[in-house]
Amino acid sequence: MSPGEAPNVRGMGYWEMRAALEWQVSMGADEAILDAPVDRTVQPEPVAATPTEAEVVPKVDAVAVAADLTKGADSLEALRAAMEAFDLCELKLGAKQLVFADGQPGARVMIVGEAPGRDEDLQGKPFVGRAGQLLDLMFGHIGLSRETPDRETALYITNVLPWRPPQNRDPKPDEMAMMLPFLKRHVELIGPDVIVAMGNHACQALLGRRGITRLRGTWSEAMGVPVLPMFHPAYLLRTPEAKREAWADLLALKARLGGGG
Ligand code: URA
Repeated sequence: MSPGEAPNVRGMGYWEMRAALEWQVSMGADEAILDAPVDRTVQPEPVAATPTEAEVVPKVDAVAVAADLTKGADSLEALRAAMEAFDLCELKLGAKQLVFADGQPGARVMIVGEAPGRDEDLQGKPFVGRAGQLLDLMFGHIGLSRETPDRETALYITNVLPWRPPQNRDPKPDEMAMMLPFLKRHVELIGPDVIVAMGNHACQALLGRRGITRLRGTWSEAMGVPVLPMFHPAYLLRTPEAKREAWADLLALKARLGGGG
């Protein structure tokens, strides 16, 4: 560019550009290091960070880890310890404690509920809140109880999930899937004659099906054990008119156990 030329795109004339160049030389810049000019007034595009090899966290297969943990669990104590050691279910972080089971391990009837609520989380036992009191009453009507040591009339009670979901929200499918190996081992260790699946989530876990209104009262099978789906007692508290069906289901259970109808 010569002194007579028009200003460049930045509006700088020859003398201004020359002065700028001289200033840079006086600051020690004596070498042009790029072939093409760089406009440093333009913000560079942010470059997406590529994680280094060390930063890539391998995806853990929670179901496989759970299944692995259950392999060595050959007693209820060992199963409980295996569940306590399982850290991949985030419900554990928000729960006060693991709610494992209640009742008699020798019982012919195993009840499977959904998940602990507030009372269960506090006491560490399943079905001890309002729904639990109704459950005790219902089964008491056909002579079954979690307290009695008599195998014929005893109950064993557990849940699909051992940790309370926050605000009693529904269990998520991945939570149910990762806890299923533990439930299956639990059923094997108890070896009940009959399982009662309380509500939709227990049916989903044990039978892979939902729709308790259609399923209830119809015998199915899971892990070689007869399963009777029933309305969840929490539902019965909200919908007392459904107790009629629940009563019919209890009588069907009694008949199945050989106690008449
Ligand atoms: N509801 C359940 O399904 N399980 C419990 O333990 C309590 C309430």
